Amino acid sequence: MKPLLSFQLLGVLFLVDILHCQALVHRRTFVVKEVPYTRLCSTKNILTVNGQFPGPTLYARKGDTIIVDVHNKGNQNITIHWHGVKQPRNPWSDGPEYITQCPIQPGAKFSQKIILSTEEGTLWWHAHSEWDRATVCGALVIYPKKGTNYPFSKPHAEFPLILGEWWKEDIEELYTEFLKSGGDPNISDALTINGQPGDLYPCSKPDTFKLMVEHSKTYLLRLINSGLQDILFFSIANHSLTIVGSDASYTKPFVTNYIAISPGQTIDFLLTADQDPHHHYYMGAKVYTATSNPFDNTTTTALLHYGDFTPSNSPPFSPYLAPYNDTNSSVSFTGRLRSLADKIHSVVDVPLNINDRLFFTLSINTFPCRQNDSCQGPNGSRLAASVNNVSFVTPTVNSILQAYYYHANGVFGDRFPDFPETLFDFTATDLPLYLETPKSRTEVKVLEYNSTVEIVFQGTNVTAGAADHPMHLHGFSFYVVGWGFGNFDKDKDPLNYNLVDPPLQNTIAVPVNGWTTVRFKADNPGVWFMHCHVDRHMSWGMTMAFIVKNGKFPNAQILPPPPDMPPC
Ligand code: C2O
Ligand code: CU
Repeated sequence: MKPLLSFQLLGVLFLVDILHCQALVHRRTFVVKEVPYTRLCSTKNILTVNGQFPGPTLYARKGDTIIVDVHNKGNQNITIHWHGVKQPRNPWSDGPEYITQCPIQPGAKFSQKIILSTEEGTLWWHAHSEWDRATVCGALVIYPKKGTNYPFSKPHAEFPLILGEWWKEDIEELYTEFLKSGGDPNISDALTINGQPGDLYPCSKPDTFKLMVEHSKTYLLRLINSGLQDILFFSIANHSLTIVGSDASYTKPFVTNYIAISPGQTIDFLLTADQDPHHHYYMGAKVYTATSNPFDNTTTTALLHYGDFTPSNSPPFSPYLAPYNDTNSSVSFTGRLRSLADKIHSVVDVPLNINDRLFFTLSINTFPCRQNDSCQGPNGSRLAASVNNVSFVTPTVNSILQAYYYHANGVFGDRFPDFPETLFDFTATDLPLYLETPKSRTEVKVLEYNSTVEIVFQGTNVTAGAADHPMHLHGFSFYVVGWGFGNFDKDKDPLNYNLVDPPLQNTIAVPVNGWTTVRFKADNPGVWFMHCHVDRHMSWGMTMAFIVKNGKFPNAQILPPPPDMPPC
């Protein structure tokens, strides 16, 4: 019986092979469970996938499909999102809780189908329920299709580098306490590289992440910022980095000695081990922030070792990392990203005629404190955040996708505004108090299938809360055609748009008190979440969702829901 079965399996794989021009279907199991982990001299239970932190790396080739059987063996609701995977016609497996599904309850299972299409490079996956992604996350590596190559010479080896944050406190408690207080969350106790704080923190030295290299070889490093709260500067002592990709899309290669990376973003870079092999070198990361809030000002490090040499006893060289408030270093790195724009690896297809012109303000806001509470926001208020002055209220009993698909009323409205209701000098220093209070709503913006969309994101200084906002869109990548500081000028700024080789991203940091314009084609029917990838801003309501309607033909319509959708 057994040989026959595997023969059938082979047959199925073979068929899949032919149907998808060699695309494969992989199957993986994710068991979500709590495991004790020790960092910074203290131990706590953390939520993990398969007991690992960071979680397991998924590997696939461009165009493959991965089925992940997610078993929730933890004691709380969870969902998993495949960050940057477009999931053509398949919003069902996208993951944001109460947007496309209800959470997977303890003891339950959900088989999620990750459909890769044009993505090639590095993406990642993470929990999309409360702040569980602090420990439930991992890399998703997408290799070129069989028979095709990288747009650079084949690296000797490659490694993911996942940047993150660590709290000694339990994440569930951190989250609950944060919501209750109405103020800012406690800052993290450490930053991490591949789950390790590194030599500069107590009790951390023996476990510092070490990267072994051979002299004169070139490595592909896949940098992911999985952090909840912080944009980070990253650098490697004495070594220059050649940037080759971001968000699973190739970029024109450029040489730099540092990277600025926002939560949600990935950066692929080449590292040639061309320095004195008798030394060790630190790679390090620390926070970039433009706000005046307290922040984690520690530095995480990992070690770069030349494996075939006996190291000298001198301490490792340290990398230069810009001061925490060096906005110029942050935006000028991001501003250098360009699509590779070659015919083979990255065909640029920027929408030129726009059907839906959207102008979205991004603000930090306040609500009056709820009765009997004492709130830690400005002047005793409760902090909030909004897009176009709408502070998004996440549904709690149904998901927007299921409500839309099954025509259930009362879950969401379809009147998300295209423009802010009130126009004001968005980036002025002393804005009137009345601008602080947003509206609480669950509204979506409905788009016709194949409509071409432009969004101008405008950061504001409301509540004196100007900050960089890494905006992330599910279901699409967008072209970042322009950015600047101050208020967007609709007459002048579009003249400088890059419509030739803009970078194709799924997350873009809108500069502090500035603006960023993105464009995409709404060719993916479904419900797609959009939000700031700084989790406190997300939890305060700096989110909204798009509904992209079905097209005329069956192959332009949402796939049927999987039979094991978690119940609402
Ligand atoms: Cu990285 Cu909505 O997620
Ligand atoms: Cu934000």
